[in-house]
Amino acid sequence: MTVFDYKKEEAIGTVYSVDTGTVIVSVSDVEHLRSLQVNHLVALRSSKVGQHLVGLIDKITRKTLGESIEEGSEEDMLEGITIIENVIRVTLIGTLIDVVGSTPNVFRRTLETVPEIDADCFVLEGERLTKFMKSISKSVQEGKHPLSLGTYTIDEDAEAWLDGNKFFQRHAVIVGSTGSGKSWAVARILEQVAELPNANAILFDIHGEYAPIQGDGIQHLRIAGPGDLNGLKNLDDGIVFLPYWLLTYEEMLALLLDRSDQNAPNQAMVFAREVTTAKRTKLEQDNKTAILANFTVDSPVPYVLDSVMERLTFLNEERVEGARSGTTKAGDFNGKLSRFIQRLDAKRKDRRLTFLFGASECSMEYDWMPALCTRLLASTRQQDNGGVKIIDFSEVPSDILPLIIGLVARIVFSVQQWTPKEKRHPIGLVCDEAHLYIPARTESSAVSEAAVHIFERIAKEGRKYGVGLVIVSQRPSEVNRTVLSQCNNYIAMRLTNADDQGVVRRLLPDSLGGFSDLLPILDVGEALVVGDSSMLPTRIRFAKPTTEPASATIEFWDEWSKEKVAESITDAVEYMRRQSKV
Ligand SMILES: Nc1ncnc2c1ncn2[C@@H]1O[C@H](COP(=O)(O)OP(=O)(O)OP(=O)(O)O)[C@@H](O)[C@H]1O
Ligand SMILES: [Mg+2]
Repeated sequence: MTVFDYKKEEAIGTVYSVDTGTVIVSVSDVEHLRSLQVNHLVALRSSKVGQHLVGLIDKITRKTLGESIEEGSEEDMLEGITIIENVIRVTLIGTLIDVVGSTPNVFRRTLETVPEIDADCFVLEGERLTKFMKSISKSVQEGKHPLSLGTYTIDEDAEAWLDGNKFFQRHAVIVGSTGSGKSWAVARILEQVAELPNANAILFDIHGEYAPIQGDGIQHLRIAGPGDLNGLKNLDDGIVFLPYWLLTYEEMLALLLDRSDQNAPNQAMVFAREVTTAKRTKLEQDNKTAILANFTVDSPVPYVLDSVMERLTFLNEERVEGARSGTTKAGDFNGKLSRFIQRLDAKRKDRRLTFLFGASECSMEYDWMPALCTRLLASTRQQDNGGVKIIDFSEVPSDILPLIIGLVARIVFSVQQWTPKEKRHPIGLVCDEAHLYIPARTESSAVSEAAVHIFERIAKEGRKYGVGLVIVSQRPSEVNRTVLSQCNNYIAMRLTNADDQGVVRRLLPDSLGGFSDLLPILDVGEALVVGDSSMLPTRIRFAKPTTEPASATIEFWDEWSKEKVAESITDAVEYMRRQSKV
């Protein structure tokens, strides 16, 4: 049964002019014109029998009759000339083929033919629309990788599916103003990822709001906070330490070096030398001869920071023999390292940085890193816990958040790169609140530089190594452009800010310009979905996730109307002092 069984008299108009991808249709009857709406779908008879072109209405115009008639012209002179007065502009988006082989109603995103002048144009509504939507959902399902988002706004009976392969392969962005429903959408997507038997994804949870999401296939990890200083908890309890030795030289400097210090170049140089020495000592102790030959200052090899500290202090105070015997003079670095040593010492003692400097003995072992990486990278079947890893970064100080998330992303990407091709298992990185740690270049600092660099790399090269990004942000205009421009799937929820709308508009294919005018008027939970993974650019309504993230919008007025509120301020002050809620 074909969906597009239109009869000639159902046509609302005929094709007046054709351009690549856009068509102007002249609508004869004003009544028809009134019933049309921007972003509704139309079907056009194609030059091939059994095919229809499908398009989105992006403009409806009605010209005032009479203007184009020359003054003094006689009525009968106009006979036979139609003045185009009611026109719609249609952006073509695909072709519906009645039958391919034995499959009826196959929708393709290609335009193999264009409509001919005077071809009939029909509206897609009512039952036909439902059937059409179902048939495109079916084509995605037949691709066997359905990811269900919710329903189509224009047809609530038809379920909206995405192609799960393409969604992660070609990176995705989810944008929308605060409270528009991004976190819920993320929960909805991850829930389905977790149901797959060999799922593998990491969610960077900045506010700890995904804690309620539980279930098979989901595991919660937390970056250690000041409360974990006693070192009793570790990876087995889901507590992640990221000891300082995982940081590269550049990352360490971003954390420790004050570039405005006139001695900064000396400090950096001495530090690199001493770290290399300390790493070599550790490798020698562990008898890692193969590694000794090739390691660099950046290699993730444990070293003892105390010994580096001792050397720096020694050099900072060193006096060497003077020109005349019996005299001494200041060594090369005497006094030049003071500020660096102070900063390093302050960081080491900073309880908020427990995860870097307060790691227990075992995380100083050479064999500790594979354990960490297994936790991060293993899929559901490869480890006991879930393959969807929700990492809570809420206790990481915001000033170094980019550095730490960048570090995790870098470890994941590097391990993936070094895994032989045939053994590589794809992994998705979901970056909630991405504007915080993948900022636009103009706003970057030494701390975010490292994160921006690694995420740009993943955006550009991730596809080859099976690393997919999902960038989630309320401020797309503050997110790194290179990263955004590599994303090929867009889920745009309500966006009110003009700069942010502009960014989304530029990302969308040119032909869909008009579609983005909907951005400010979308409802909570509604989204425009465009890209590789969806058959059709559509407006959809996200279904609620089974368990909702703890990101509820607070009902101010209702709360203020309550008789009693819980006593919490004293506790909060104490937590703030302790820098921990536990
Ligand atoms: N699909 C949905 N259906 C119904 N209500 C929704 C839906 N999605 C979100 N909401 C409502 O909107 C609120 C905020 O959603 P959410 O936490 O996902 O916003 P957000 O876009 O992540 O905001 P932020 O950028 O501030 O993190 C939810 O608490 C919920 O009440
Ligand atoms: Mg959110």
